[in-house]
Amino acid sequence: MEFIPRPKPAITGNEAIHLEDAYHGYYDPSNRRVRTVLNDIDLIISRGEFVSLVGPSGCGKSTLLKLFTGQEMVQKAKYFQVLGRLPSFPDRSRGVVFQNYGLAPHLTVQRNILLGLEFQSSMLQRFSPSWWRQAKDMARKYLDDMRLSDASNKYPSELSGGMRQRVAIAQTLITIDLFGMPDLICMDESYGALDASTREDLQIFILKLWEKYKKTVVFVTHNLEEAVFLGTRVIVLSQFWTSDLPAAQEEGSRIIMDIPLEPHAMSTEVKQTTAFKELTKYILERGFNPKQRLHIAQFNADLRHPNAFSSLTREQFDASQPAPPAAAPPPDSKPG
Ligand SMILES: Nc1ncnc2c1ncn2[C@@H]1O[C@H](COP(=O)(O)OP(=O)(O)OP(=O)(O)O)[C@@H](O)[C@H]1O
Ligand SMILES: [Mg+2]
Repeated sequence: MEFIPRPKPAITGNEAIHLEDAYHGYYDPSNRRVRTVLNDIDLIISRGEFVSLVGPSGCGKSTLLKLFTGQEMVQKAKYFQVLGRLPSFPDRSRGVVFQNYGLAPHLTVQRNILLGLEFQSSMLQRFSPSWWRQAKDMARKYLDDMRLSDASNKYPSELSGGMRQRVAIAQTLITIDLFGMPDLICMDESYGALDASTREDLQIFILKLWEKYKKTVVFVTHNLEEAVFLGTRVIVLSQFWTSDLPAAQEEGSRIIMDIPLEPHAMSTEVKQTTAFKELTKYILERGFNPKQRLHIAQFNADLRHPNAFSSLTREQFDASQPAPPAAAPPPDSKPG
């Protein structure tokens, strides 16, 4: 199959995220160079989409989310906008549930749940006893919903992984309840440590919130069934390359699949249908199995979402950058 670069879709002004030719990596002291993690990411996510982001461990999903939330600044990009601007620090418009839970170890479960509110509330609210009463009532409701009531006075170190995860989720949900949903919410394996039944409850919970507020969600998960069930779109990020390019250019991940799904939430019964199972299997086989290292060009055939596109290669991008200014001649050099 031939590699056919896809033209950029028309810009409508309704984009929550718009990246073009984005590269990001980390300095590797062992060989003193930057190791590319994200290699040429081209992505448009419209406002209101629920995007499931999947990919093998270490491919750069959390890194990509950190670029969206402003926890890290993209190293190189032709275009990079989140909610209409370059994200340079985390703020209220972009909510996040972290992969590593992000709990304060010295605070009890209840205080941790209220912590999100303390960060977001205004000075006036913080000094209002009635506001605090309301916040505490709400915290109690979430402790109950998350089956954490018995643990409200425990510290994070005394909790299991799944319990810690539920505290982190409650922290985010209570903030959404009181302040509304942020325009973009990034969830990084937020349900990874939950048991199956709590997980399904919370899948329905986030879908209800999404349907109510119609905001953009980017949801990283290792569970393909969850990805296909929740998303209006599934994106696979992967570092599996087998092109003939030199090794250094094959480093890092790209979007290799971008599949549109139902634009609305589905009932959990859909998980039992053959079509659902076949789609999950297809994504697993094409996107994850290293034995099936298809040429990256073939993967591009799967960028079926109308907002998926592939633009310049790194060489084309580098060549398109303005040349660095010429060095000034040494002071004693003479013209001619
Ligand atoms: N701050 C950092 N400094 C150096 N390397 C990093 C840093 N953060 C991430 N990396 C590296 O970047 C790569 C991508 O990491 P990232 O956490 O984004 O992967 P991931 O897809 O989220 O993986 P997982 O599914 O296991 O969470 C990994 O090789 C990781 O070791
Ligand atoms: Mg991660």
